[in-house]
Amino acid sequence: MADAGATNDQPSIVILTGAGISKESGLATFRDADGIWARYRIEDVATPEAYARDPERVLGFYNARRRGAVADDVRPNPAHVALARLEAEWPGEVLIVTQNIDDLHERAGSKNLIHMHGELLKARCTACAGVHPWRADITLDHACPACGSLGTLRPHVVWFGEMPLGLDEIEDALTGCALFLSIGTSGNVYPAAGFVQHVRMRGGVPTVELNLEPSEGATLFEHARYGPASEIVPAFVDDLLSGGLAAAGARASLR
Ligand code: APR
Repeated sequence: MADAGATNDQPSIVILTGAGISKESGLATFRDADGIWARYRIEDVATPEAYARDPERVLGFYNARRRGAVADDVRPNPAHVALARLEAEWPGEVLIVTQNIDDLHERAGSKNLIHMHGELLKARCTACAGVHPWRADITLDHACPACGSLGTLRPHVVWFGEMPLGLDEIEDALTGCALFLSIGTSGNVYPAAGFVQHVRMRGGVPTVELNLEPSEGATLFEHARYGPASEIVPAFVDDLLSGGLAAAGARASLR
């Protein structure tokens, strides 16, 4: 009879995801040729200074993305579903650390999830810091549901120059994991792009990149597999669940 207080000594997995995992669900990435930063300047729409300078422009940018994220034809794809299955069936803990601000991981069934760059479907009040579910447009005419302030709501999204969320919990998870996966991210933005280094420094923990093409940090990963997430992620999860951690290298090309 296991001690009720025993921690789960099964191998844990940390999975970093980026915009590439949501691309086949119909949401744009950032740095692909047709990406968001090919159409907007970060300094105009994704910094605290931009919001202070022209809040309606920033709110409009996120309102358009929110409408896209809640559209009927935007649904979790097989990659999101496979990660939810992994969380449900893997004997140890599975933590998804996502850079994405959509809710596709949740809708696929993932529960152990950190949105390190915030959540598009939540609004935050700059007066009382209250955070509220929010699926509609945010305008300066809205009042904060908690404190009633007018014109103080912003997207609950981390802008450039702001501190990502959950970093302490993420650091703990990276320090104890037995496998690190990076899926659908270009490896351009820190601290997320540095997570693989954190795991490598521990030594002996497999690191795997699953992406459409080699990322900026591709050479930092021990194993890699390239292709559309909706194809390579389910295959990788199938192997992991049938072959255990040893499958991490077998499925992904050895470096
Ligand atoms: N399957 C797998 N990977 C894909 C697919 C796909 N179908 N389509 C694109 N990709 C890959 C691209 O090759 C690229 O490496 O997904 C990656 C997307 O990279 P970015 O557009 O840079 O997105 P991301 O890495 O999530 O950006 C990180 O930057 O702008 C900030 O806050 C924003 O969270 C974002 C952060």
